[in-house]
Amino acid sequence: MTRIDQVVAWEALDSRGRPTVACRVTVSGGSSGRAVVPSGASTGSYEAVELRDGGHRYGGKGVRRAVEQVNTVLADAVRGLDTAEPDAVDLLLEELDGSSRYARLGGNAVLAVSVAAARAGATAAGMSLARWLHGPGALPLPMPMINVISGGAHAGRAIDVQDLLVIPLGAAGFTEALEWCARVREEARRLALAAGHGAAVLVADEGGLGVPLGGNAEALDLLVRAIESAGFTPGTDVAVAIDVAANQLWTGDGYELGSEGRTLATAELVDEIAGWVARHPVVSVEDPLHEDDWDGWAAGTRRLAGVQVIGDDLFATDPSRLAEGVRRGAANAVLVKVNQNGTLRGARGVLDDAQRAGWATVVSARSGDTEDDWLADLAVGWRAGQIKVGSVHRSERCAKWNRLLELEATEDTTFTNPWREAAV
Ligand code: PGA
Ligand code: ZN
Repeated sequence: MTRIDQVVAWEALDSRGRPTVACRVTVSGGSSGRAVVPSGASTGSYEAVELRDGGHRYGGKGVRRAVEQVNTVLADAVRGLDTAEPDAVDLLLEELDGSSRYARLGGNAVLAVSVAAARAGATAAGMSLARWLHGPGALPLPMPMINVISGGAHAGRAIDVQDLLVIPLGAAGFTEALEWCARVREEARRLALAAGHGAAVLVADEGGLGVPLGGNAEALDLLVRAIESAGFTPGTDVAVAIDVAANQLWTGDGYELGSEGRTLATAELVDEIAGWVARHPVVSVEDPLHEDDWDGWAAGTRRLAGVQVIGDDLFATDPSRLAEGVRRGAANAVLVKVNQNGTLRGARGVLDDAQRAGWATVVSARSGDTEDDWLADLAVGWRAGQIKVGSVHRSERCAKWNRLLELEATEDTTFTNPWREAAV
């Protein structure tokens, strides 16, 4: 009843209007699971490779070849496998690839099958995906990390730092956490409008505010004022997180802060970030340096002691890169993006390795995402502790928040607040 019978893929659109792979897996008992995969803009070099068509359709971004891979090679390979064995499909997909980061099969093709098969397995077992992944016991809802001001590749480089986010440290539950963040975003929008930015206050790719401010420090000031004017104590109730996405600023011999007309050397950028941390209630910094600067990351993590330092492009949800990072003390947290890895099994392995090393874990969406909400179930089922899916605007973002609210309302859940339980 739980063996894969049918696999069908098609080309869908992501939140930027770019093609992406969607897939439905049906098992012999008739249950099925569907998945639409996301796609990044500030991608790292070590991610699983997306198969794109080239040519004229969609500026070369069509995914008909990836869809074809699912409908032929991958469908033939997984047909007959038992979805009740959670790793069976993923192990086969990984074996088919060998070690090419899915350049031949397409990471987008592989992930669509991996997620759709898991969903079919959960549906056939009569469970939510979160429950199926987690097993018995209360389901731990993650702490959200919510984008308020966007920059970098997601907001026409209005500022250099890609995300200025809030973490509602003092919230007692998930519902309250979400409401606090929404309140801060609304206050930030009101303050930006009042400051005369008017029509230039736009909604960026991840739903945050795209505002052409005078630089990164000014954006941090605005965010902290928004926290205060929403009625919260910065750093106690609501703290700040930053994703520098430094790959995007790296020119080959320096970090270009275009919004401030400055180019900084590695040590200068770390100093700059340490200054932001000293002057503002910043508790988490993602991708402070580019993906190949292992020594800089280790020194930066030591310098930013007490701060959650998250590797996104640095680790690219790859187990050997994470192991290298743990060995070197290059960070103390990992961003887990399943499409960087390729399969659910692979991404979960990275999350588990990080937690075994005592690191914090954050499950993350991509800047090009969809209305599909499976990421919320992964964050819960994998006990990630934290989740980052952009802001509380745009339906592809709210789909994940709404799914977490649904799980809270319909399942036995707890709220995990890693910021209260253990200092990083
Ligand atoms: P991306 O951005 O999906 O464009 O890579 C998300 C992030 O950098 O965290
Ligand atoms: Zn990032």
